[in-house]
Amino acid sequence: MTDTAPAPTTEKSASADAARGPRPVVRVDVPAPAAFSLGEPDPAIALVTIDRPEALNALDAAVLAGLADAFTRLDTDPTCHVIVLTGSGTRAFAAGADIKAMAGASPTTIGPIGGFEHWATLAGVGVPIVAAVRGFALGGGCELALLCDVVVAGDDATFGQPEIKLGVIPGAGGTQRLTRAVGRARAMELVLTGRSIDAREAERLGLVSRVVPAEETLDRALELAGRIAALPPIAVRAAKAAVNAAQELPLSEGLARERQAFFGLFATADQKEGMAAFVEKRSPRWTGR
Ligand code: CAA
Repeated sequence: MTDTAPAPTTEKSASADAARGPRPVVRVDVPAPAAFSLGEPDPAIALVTIDRPEALNALDAAVLAGLADAFTRLDTDPTCHVIVLTGSGTRAFAAGADIKAMAGASPTTIGPIGGFEHWATLAGVGVPIVAAVRGFALGGGCELALLCDVVVAGDDATFGQPEIKLGVIPGAGGTQRLTRAVGRARAMELVLTGRSIDAREAERLGLVSRVVPAEETLDRALELAGRIAALPPIAVRAAKAAVNAAQELPLSEGLARERQAFFGLFATADQKEGMAAFVEKRSPRWTGR
């Protein structure tokens, strides 16, 4: 793997471009075979790259608008089954919200200056998002990883919520999603001290799904995404929504939501195919219906 994100076979720059000139700060690529040790690129996977390496991929309003635009388009594209989200270069997934952009803000201007309206869009995406994290995932970068569905971390990754050292607190979900991910005691320590943790500790605490050798991070994330992309997409979306409901709902409501989704999947052709294939001892042929 090189120091930069893999070369695209197709590239659609996001709207953030318009705000910043010709160079996109968010790129959407079909992963190129060269980056994909599995062989063929999978058109069902979209690779979204935050591309501000000079600022350690800090999340300013243009990046967040670009991410929201890209995710919204991919979420409504029936050919996209999984998004892989990464940062360009090897030094950072994202080093947080853009401190330089925010520094002079007031309580009434920080929302638009920081692009905070886009976080809800990112969290509302129905298609699974796999984060491939190398280097720093701090502040908003950690919060971005936390709203992804699976986090593959290189063994060079660093996570943390250092906002307290800037005189603020996490503002994009860190106090809520980190607490749900690692529990109150650990989240409280991390948020109150701003201490960073390495990938292994993040894995032990339950913040990331797996740790891999740094240079393999993107390939391993793509591999995992490929396995998800090969599964029936309606059921995959339902599974994501049901697991995420556990973060939001009381148990009885979550169980009701799960049962409703489970029953609803019996209206899909893929349920008929999946169960018929099992009975007939053959591989299923998913149609996404
Ligand atoms: N915002 C803006 N620019 C940033 C940035 C950020 N969050 N993080 C790094 N950069 C910039 C640096 O200013 C520097 O730019 P210049 O070369 O123009 O000076 C460049 O990226 C490289 O960074 P460093 O020289 O600092 O690199 P380093 O290796 O010495 O340190 C680091 C790396 C420890 C990650 C350090 O950059 C750092 O502490 N960054 C800030 C991390 C942080 O506090 N994040 C939380 C932000 S607040 C937030 O996210 C709120 C929220 O909840 C949404």
